[in-house]
Amino acid sequence: IGRVVLGIETSCDETAVGVVDDARSILAHEVYSQLDEHALYEGVVPEIAARAHVERLDILVEKALRTAGLRLGDMAAIAVTGGPGLIGGLVVGTASAKALAAVLGKPLLVVNHLAAHALTARLTDGIAFPYLLLLVSGGHSQLLAVHGADRFERLGTTIDDAAGEAFDKVAKMLGLGYPGGPRLEALARFGDPTRFDLPRPLSRHAGCDLSFSGLKTAVRTTILSLGEEGAHEATRADLAASFQTAVADSLSARTRRAIALMEARYGGGLPLVVAGGVAANGVVRQALAGLAAEHAMPFIAPPITLCGDNGAMVAWAGIERLELGAGDPLDSLTRARWPL
Ligand code: KG4
Ligand code: ZN
Repeated sequence: IGRVVLGIETSCDETAVGVVDDARSILAHEVYSQLDEHALYEGVVPEIAARAHVERLDILVEKALRTAGLRLGDMAAIAVTGGPGLIGGLVVGTASAKALAAVLGKPLLVVNHLAAHALTARLTDGIAFPYLLLLVSGGHSQLLAVHGADRFERLGTTIDDAAGEAFDKVAKMLGLGYPGGPRLEALARFGDPTRFDLPRPLSRHAGCDLSFSGLKTAVRTTILSLGEEGAHEATRADLAASFQTAVADSLSARTRRAIALMEARYGGGLPLVVAGGVAANGVVRQALAGLAAEHAMPFIAPPITLCGDNGAMVAWAGIERLELGAGDPLDSLTRARWPL
């Protein structure tokens, strides 16, 4: 094997460690989701998340090395998410990564979490730059032209909520609790997506920006107007399905505009990539796959296990930076906000 990098992810509620080599092999992929810690509060509590990272991270590093059959000394570098995210968790991850890098005398690579999601398709499918990326996670929703491992061009972004945030809030309204997205998708499986006529935000607007707040409000209004009936399982399923389809429609309509932009610049056939937690959603994937097929674009969606937050994507983003000759000083700061 070539150069191997250990990646640490602690920016939200997943404590994760991955080991990846420069031939795109994932040698270890350990994720601890802090579901039980946050379930009671129906959302991520930053202080609880930071403490859980402290409790789990070392165990996961050991586990990942055991899975990979390697020792710390075999690592070419230590990569870690430096932001954006919850600062307490970021501090836990970066402090550990700095200590490891310092003791090993190996480079430290402080990775942007969004870049790690954005580069996952190169880890899984080895695609070349440039490509069109729809990045849809709990905190971010963007359309990006990806030109290089450190060159991202934002074509559009959400003007209000992120797509995952909308899933989480609507899931809460439907009494599904935390984590919202996957539970809403499970409920929607039994629902009729045509029953409720929900808005497709910004559908008549030029450009590639996204919006989900109007859709979320429409769901709330619908629930109120349903009264007692809104509590019925079948009605909730129909509403979940109608909402999910509205999100998928909206995402593909806005992505269609970005495709036109890319086609005008580069001609057709560039890959369409989706990444981030919401990329795990089957209906969203299907809508985007159809869109890509229409435009003769290869469609790349990471396997479900690499859509959510994980350490392998951080390790890979580290390898990409290593290949650009990058390394970061041990006094690098964490950044709660860090746009691409
Ligand atoms: O990328 P990610 O794991 O963390 C962030 O960087 O934000 O994304 C988490 C988001 C959450 O909002 C979650 O509800 C959403 O992704 N999500 C889903 C699904 N799985 C996760 N949304 C819709 N359908 C899913 N199956
Ligand atoms: Zn993420």
